[in-house]
Amino acid sequence: MPRPQYVAAIDQGTTSSRCMVFDQDGRIVSVAQREHRQIFPRPGWVEHDAAEIWDAVQGVVADAVTGSGIDFAQLVALGITNQRETTVLWDRHTGRPVANAIVWQDTRTDALVRSLSEHEELFRERAGLPLATYFAGPKIRWLLDETPGLRERAERGDVLFGTVDSWLIWRLTGRHVTDVTNASRTMLMNLRTLSWDDELLAALGVPRAMLPEIRPSAEVYGTADGGVPVAAALGDQQAALFGQTCFGPGETKSTYGSGSFLLMNTGTEPVASKHGLLTTVGYQIGDAPATYALEGSIAVTGSLVQWLRDNLGLISSAAEIETLAGTVEDNGGCYFVPAFSGLFAPHWRSDARGVIAGLTGFVTKGHIARAVLEATAWQTREVVDAMNADAGLALASLRADGGMTANNLLMQILADVLAVPVVRPMVSETTCLGAAYAAGLATGYWPDTDSLRANWHKAAEWRPKIGQDVRDSEYRNWRKAIDRSLDWST
Ligand code: G3P
Repeated sequence: MPRPQYVAAIDQGTTSSRCMVFDQDGRIVSVAQREHRQIFPRPGWVEHDAAEIWDAVQGVVADAVTGSGIDFAQLVALGITNQRETTVLWDRHTGRPVANAIVWQDTRTDALVRSLSEHEELFRERAGLPLATYFAGPKIRWLLDETPGLRERAERGDVLFGTVDSWLIWRLTGRHVTDVTNASRTMLMNLRTLSWDDELLAALGVPRAMLPEIRPSAEVYGTADGGVPVAAALGDQQAALFGQTCFGPGETKSTYGSGSFLLMNTGTEPVASKHGLLTTVGYQIGDAPATYALEGSIAVTGSLVQWLRDNLGLISSAAEIETLAGTVEDNGGCYFVPAFSGLFAPHWRSDARGVIAGLTGFVTKGHIARAVLEATAWQTREVVDAMNADAGLALASLRADGGMTANNLLMQILADVLAVPVVRPMVSETTCLGAAYAAGLATGYWPDTDSLRANWHKAAEWRPKIGQDVRDSEYRNWRKAIDRSLDWST
């Protein structure tokens, strides 16, 4: 009897690395996870050690595969999905990172980004992105400017750049490539030609010799040790769009991890946003035309819960936030804007800072916990409003996924705030699933996207319960708190 075959996916995220093995029905067969250090050298700076990440990735792959009794020969493909924008520079000859990776949340490039304001229109039009510290290009430039001798080595091609997908593919296969979705987060790729753009490179001062080759999201890039084809790479949010089987224009998902990211499939043409969203590549399967997406990026949601746990000690585990928030009826007049990395969509203000507004002696830690969950919902409301305005139609329901969706109270608050049903799929780990789907399509494990749609099943749904008057007055209060956050630097 032939042994069963599987597809594996690596999800290299902001706080941890995971490997999941899936069967043909898209069911999780095994999973392993390891955290890595968050390095905060100064306020606003966030770094990772890319060598530590590589060690963690090798560890989780071994744990998820051999640790659960699967032989590498049973894996038909390996897909990669990753935290996006995080910038790794390494020495081509030694294979060692030349500095800590600068994480997407890091705001050290604020002054640099402001100095690029004359190019704002160019970046928006060519790359689909606003000027922000979020993206990889300014982080590369900062490292080249601040590290003696690095620019010369990069110009010679001795030092290479990659987002985390590229770093992992290089370690796994020896090829220096990236996929279109990750490349679309650098501010260096032309969204229409899907290639590096000389004017964007010149505006940011990044040498072409250090850049990876841009490839589709699903194709065999090379072979890892053990003979497994590395057959897909997608930024984690695009992978979640794929894993939620949002293959048609208008289909939308929102993923709740350390940050939250709402993406709408807009078809094979890039659509420019007029309301503070990003235009990005959704995916490209082999030689087929790329599919684009509009994205509302929120920097801090789940990481605020972690901050409450690690920095304030108000809870001892992330799951406890639900219990604590459940001890009160409402927020007690308290609103929490977690602008730890400035505010992303739709504001794009790196200088905004976090505020807790509306405090009185009445407020307890229960109210703060409630305000923390509501912050995720109100930030989602702001990007949904922007998405509706850009699309010219109203979102009918929200497909939510990611770690935070295990929090049922949050799901109810989301439905209340958005005034639409919120739906959670059976497999809420859609990020890994999306990377596995893309790798499985590239290697013929799944024949087509229709076969993937058949795997999507609804697990739970929450319907709005509060009245419009309450929703409106709460939103007004949230907006007042946002104004305080934006006012901080003036
Ligand atoms: O753009 C940043 C995003 O890719 C990070 O995702 O899930 O690691 O917080 P996550």
